Amino acid sequence: MLDGNGPVPVKLLNQELVLWRDGTGAWRCTGGICPHRLAPLSQGRVTQSGKLMCRFHGWCFRGADGACVKVPMAEGDAEAEARLLETPRTSLAIYPTKVVKGLLFVWPHAESASEAAAAEPFMSEELEEAPEWNVVDAPASWRVWMEQTWDPSHAPFLHQFTLPFFAPENAKAMKPFEIEDLGHAGLRVRHGGYMHGNEGLQAQRVFGAPCCNNSTYKYPDGREVGFHFYFVPTELDRVRQITTSYFRPAPSGDDDPSQGGLKGNQLTVSRVVPRGRTISEVPKERTGLVAAVLSRVERRWPHVARVRRGIKVLKILRGRLGDQDNAVLSFQDAVGLPSVQRGDMR
Ligand code: FES
Ligand SMILES: [Fe+2]
Repeated sequence: MLDGNGPVPVKLLNQELVLWRDGTGAWRCTGGICPHRLAPLSQGRVTQSGKLMCRFHGWCFRGADGACVKVPMAEGDAEAEARLLETPRTSLAIYPTKVVKGLLFVWPHAESASEAAAAEPFMSEELEEAPEWNVVDAPASWRVWMEQTWDPSHAPFLHQFTLPFFAPENAKAMKPFEIEDLGHAGLRVRHGGYMHGNEGLQAQRVFGAPCCNNSTYKYPDGREVGFHFYFVPTELDRVRQITTSYFRPAPSGDDDPSQGGLKGNQLTVSRVVPRGRTISEVPKERTGLVAAVLSRVERRWPHVARVRRGIKVLKILRGRLGDQDNAVLSFQDAVGLPSVQRGDMR
């Protein structure tokens, strides 16, 4: 998203916004509508001096304060220019922005300058300076996605066979979470494992207001896997998921691939799926003769097992995990409010 100078259209809280890089190299953010005749500013272009030029009649706006500094059809008409240039009537509202670790953060209110100056966006210190970010628009709302990132108990069921050990038969009742209130900054929870295969897990999840979940999983051998998710509410029932992950090997350097072996940015959280799609593509567990033959083959030629594990990780890369979530979450969105009002949710 931060390549080039823009203009780049974005949607946030159902509001059209436009980003562009001005002559100072700073990213600027404004509403997406030209104050002249309501043309979409995202269709404009950035001039050589970094002004945002509207595509319809060429009005040009300065990044620092949004002032209209050029109206081509008024040039030479001092009275018209006095009426149109450098005046609040024709100015764009400029919203504060900050770039942190390769992501652009926006405070989408003209009055939020002091708030933006006082606050740093929530960001994990574990992440390198420019991590590889994954950006996906998903068909479910901010509310249900944020909720579900605090619910590991669904993994062995919804994501059965997507990763090693993920199967209903492996599910184990969890101990209550330890919850720590971080005040305005959010909250932190700690919990243990939730299925056979991750009994010794020490997990920590941090909610960083307004839309971040940072989760770390520490395994008994010392390996650590971390995920950093933003769920940006673009529209009422859409989120933009911006995610990355990190991995710290066990101190001994041994990495047990049977535990999943996620490394680097290997989690594509989801692909966009049509709203209301049923939970499909859940791989079937092999039983009977096929399973017996496969296990003999894998014992004889261990690299076959490695290939099979590789295929499982590929499924994550292809986003199957997130599709499974989206299928349930978009359904929750669709039935949500009336069902809660009727008392259907226990
Ligand atoms: S609508 Fe933008 S310049 Fe006319
Ligand atoms: Fe999930």
